[in-house]
Amino acid sequence: MSRPRVLSGIQPTADSFHLGNYLGALRQWVAMQDSCDAFYCVVDLHAITVPQDPAVLRRRTRVAAAQLFGAGLDPDRCTVFVQSHVPEHVELAWVLGCLTGFGEASRMVQFKDKSAKAGPDTASVGLFTYPILQAADILLYQTDQVPVGEDQRQHLELTRDLAQRFNHRFGETFVIPRPYILPGVAKIADLQDPTIKMSKSSSSPQGIVDVLEDPAAIRRKIGRAVTDAGTEVRADEEAKPGITNLLRIYSALTGEAVASLEQRYAGAGYGTLKKDLADVVVNALAPVRERTEKMLADTDHLDRLLAQGASRARQVAGVTMAAVRDRVGLLPPS
Ligand code: TYM
Repeated sequence: MSRPRVLSGIQPTADSFHLGNYLGALRQWVAMQDSCDAFYCVVDLHAITVPQDPAVLRRRTRVAAAQLFGAGLDPDRCTVFVQSHVPEHVELAWVLGCLTGFGEASRMVQFKDKSAKAGPDTASVGLFTYPILQAADILLYQTDQVPVGEDQRQHLELTRDLAQRFNHRFGETFVIPRPYILPGVAKIADLQDPTIKMSKSSSSPQGIVDVLEDPAAIRRKIGRAVTDAGTEVRADEEAKPGITNLLRIYSALTGEAVASLEQRYAGAGYGTLKKDLADVVVNALAPVRERTEKMLADTDHLDRLLAQGASRARQVAGVTMAAVRDRVGLLPPS
């Protein structure tokens, strides 16, 4: 039996990924590279849906790719590429856009959030059609599973709807993809406001732990994480969102169940938990940072790996796109 096909993407919109990206997505990507036929892309075309400085975007795209390898993706076991290197993504996005209702696209909550932040006159049409490009990313590879965090669920639903609609209208063409969302890590919270997700656009850098951050800063941020009234180390999403978040991060990084951590830290207090968690996080991220730095020290090598990834991706994307052109009735050039 052939291995399930996996695709996921990440935006190069910061100088480092954060712990939410790492636990909610990247670790699953690494795990799936052996059990699945996996494609992972740095989605630079998604990054330009909000204003970007060209030099910064180029740098961040390399830093993002280097972190993917640094996190443990192996170019011999999976395909890592930059989205804009495979022009079929944009071509399929156009076709899918022509099947998407205006009202349907208007219901995407991420667009509503982001455009509210940008202001109604500054939000671009690209930001509006962002989820359609994401659907194209996924459907081009006949993807079975998409490892993502909770915030991507609605985009995955749109992707499934578009695939079904296309298949219904033009004949079986696309695999209908399923989201792969791990409950314990699907929504890592901000350390300063544990009621919201950790996010690059979060208001305070104190709430975010970056993958490439230096250990002293990581320790400081975890030490100052907002916790809840009381002293009891117990997971309770409603009453104790701060401690719950710290326990989830601890559990995800060590494999020890939250219930076991609760027992072990019963009576120890928040301070001890935070100190130990800081060690756990620093030790988990140190090798990722070291490998990333090594990758970035030889950008020619990094660029070669990305070129090789793009060429593998294009082989798959090209086959799907040829079928799409044919089904839709686009006249082939003679
Ligand atoms: P992006 O770049 O915002 O985030 C990358 C991945 O990290 C997950 N994530 C989180 N998981 C848990 N807790 C958090 N606090 C947290 N913050 C982020 C995201 O869910 C995501 O899986 N639209 C996508 C990129 C994309 C994509 C795709 C994803 C483009 N094309 C195709 C899958 C398939 C995004 O902006 O992710």
